Amino acid sequence: MTRTPLMAGNWKMNMDHLEAIHLVQGLHMELSDANFDYSKVEVVVVPPFTDIRSVQTVVEGDGMKIQYGAQDVSTHESGAYTGEVSATMLKKLGCAYVVVGHSERREYHSESDALVGEKARVVLAAGMTPIICCGEALEVRKEGKQVPHVLAQIDGALDGMSADDVKTAVIAYEPIWAIGTGEVATPEDAQEVCGAIRGRIAELYDAETAEATRILYGGSVKSSNVAEIMSQQDVDGALVGGASLKADEFAKIARFAEL
Ligand code: 13P
Repeated sequence: MTRTPLMAGNWKMNMDHLEAIHLVQGLHMELSDANFDYSKVEVVVVPPFTDIRSVQTVVEGDGMKIQYGAQDVSTHESGAYTGEVSATMLKKLGCAYVVVGHSERREYHSESDALVGEKARVVLAAGMTPIICCGEALEVRKEGKQVPHVLAQIDGALDGMSADDVKTAVIAYEPIWAIGTGEVATPEDAQEVCGAIRGRIAELYDAETAEATRILYGGSVKSSNVAEIMSQQDVDGALVGGASLKADEFAKIARFAEL
């Protein structure tokens, strides 16, 4: 596989800036030995906005290879948008990745597929990589409609995006019923939808674009289940919530190849 695996820790609304410094330092320590090679697995932390400057300081100060990003972004460049944070601001803080369209934002902030697509394009235009989230609710899964549901989200989010942008972007399939519930999708469930997403990218663009785009699975990923999930051919990494808040556990996830 030519796609470099990506392990991204979405901290959600956890960790103040002091806790963030400890967590990043702990993660760095856990990954500092000859067995771990950052060129073979990208490791990304996604803290709350208020932590990013502190994370930047420790990462740059200690020359860490851990990358970091943000959990959301405004579609606006600047101006009278109280409470919002622009892509340029995030880029200036050294963010490499921005999560867009997380199911918690879709649910609690009514984000539509079109808005998610706009955010993804703003992130790309600023020179960062969007992690575009998609995933079905339990009712949709019970009806067996997870594939068409997710593909409709993908169509909306990728609308108007060039093939080069899609190759840069990362897609994260996170079934809502598996988020924070301990209910992990089976590796076959993850593969079914991740494979369908890759197939859709091939249809919308071409096989080369589909082969290059990284697709992550998210939802109750832990060190005890990551290796099995990563063994699926269309799963290129994980978007991890709860298990990314402990340095040793997230480091084990990043070391999935050694498990
Ligand atoms: P959990 O790993 O806590 O289930 O969260 C998944 C998630 O939503 C990551 O974005």
